[in-house]
Amino acid sequence: MQAATSPVPGPPSAATRSVSVATRDCRYDILIGAGLLGAPAAWTGLPSAARAVIVSNPTVDALYGSALQAAIAPHYGRISRVLLPDGEQHKDWASLNLVFDHLLASGCDRKTVLFALGGGVVGDMTGFAAATYMRGVPFVQVPTTLLAQVDSSVGGKTAINHPRGKNMIGAFYQPVRVVCDLATLDSLPRRELCAGLAEVIKYGPIADPVFLDWIEANLDALLARDRAALTHAVQRSCELKADVVGADEREGGLRAILNFGHTFGHAIEAGMGYGAWLHGEAVGCGMVMASELSAALGGVPASFVERMRQLVQRAGLPAVAPAMPVERWFELMQVDKKAEGGEIRFIVIEAPGRAALRPAPDALVRRVIAEHSAAAA
Ligand code: NAD
Ligand code: GLY
Repeated sequence: MQAATSPVPGPPSAATRSVSVATRDCRYDILIGAGLLGAPAAWTGLPSAARAVIVSNPTVDALYGSALQAAIAPHYGRISRVLLPDGEQHKDWASLNLVFDHLLASGCDRKTVLFALGGGVVGDMTGFAAATYMRGVPFVQVPTTLLAQVDSSVGGKTAINHPRGKNMIGAFYQPVRVVCDLATLDSLPRRELCAGLAEVIKYGPIADPVFLDWIEANLDALLARDRAALTHAVQRSCELKADVVGADEREGGLRAILNFGHTFGHAIEAGMGYGAWLHGEAVGCGMVMASELSAALGGVPASFVERMRQLVQRAGLPAVAPAMPVERWFELMQVDKKAEGGEIRFIVIEAPGRAALRPAPDALVRRVIAEHSAAAA
């Protein structure tokens, strides 16, 4: 299925782009542009309801909560805000329950529309709350990190973490719209911008060699938050993700390629304690390790590993994994949604722009870990 890209007609600005996501059961738009939070056209045509609830965290709410509330005020009789503690370490049952507590205490019904205002943590948890509250209420993604704009807000994966494994409890549940206001990226800390670049880089090796070349050529502009460069990066990432999700919404096969670098990356995140390494940092390092594995399995030349290492480092991301005993790596990587019958599987690159899901001999994986991580204590 092809993602359709078109300019949004009329206001808010001629520069606004729209990418469509179409799955078997639904279709929705991703709007991309600077200033969309305050643009009335971005908020028309959503499901009508008496109530709306904005889910955010104190950091993002202080920056954009009032603007979003004012923007959606013409469409809902009553709007309330619920704030979750900030951070990956709070992507858990306790935070999720804060949403349910608020929805129930304030009498929200099954037409209530939830708005996820924040990064991937808020987006994944709001989506899971929307999927399960009264067996499903509509929700809108309003991503405010680069990572969320290029990846987590699109495609309907919602989840919380379990101490034993990342995103282990969740649901596939699509938003009714995604509104990416590029102006919100101005306030993003640099470390978070870099983390988001990991997921932008990911799309090149798995799906689009031309985009990989473009990222290499425009990385400095992206790091400088050049608006035109960010617009293209968000749009192209969303187009590529929409194509994959349209073809395989529930990860029967193809969608697994979006997990390039994530088998190693999720192990780093869980092993170091959620929040110590940012998701994007772990994915960046994981992509270098998965590239090495791909080369060892005969998919790409050694020069490709070096190319990925340089790109990851230029993006301000770590390319060397933390020290962890090798048995701990294996224990963590076994708790991965791609594992089957106890066999760990990895996304490997067969050629720039082409990826596949493969098992790998333990000895090879051990070698990659040994060569790409700080010496185990
Ligand atoms: P995050 O949600 O923790 O946000 C990063 C930090 O930036 C937070 O402290 C947040 O408060 C702050 N922040 C957000 N927007 C800001 C802004 N505009 N200005 C200033 N500060 C801002 O992290 P993330 O990187 O956005 O998301 C990571 C999460 O996304 C992980 O839990 C990961 O598992 C998930 N994820 C999900 C999918 C999916 O398909 N559902 C895909 C990729 C990642
Ligand atoms: N970020 C992985 C996926 O959406 O499938």
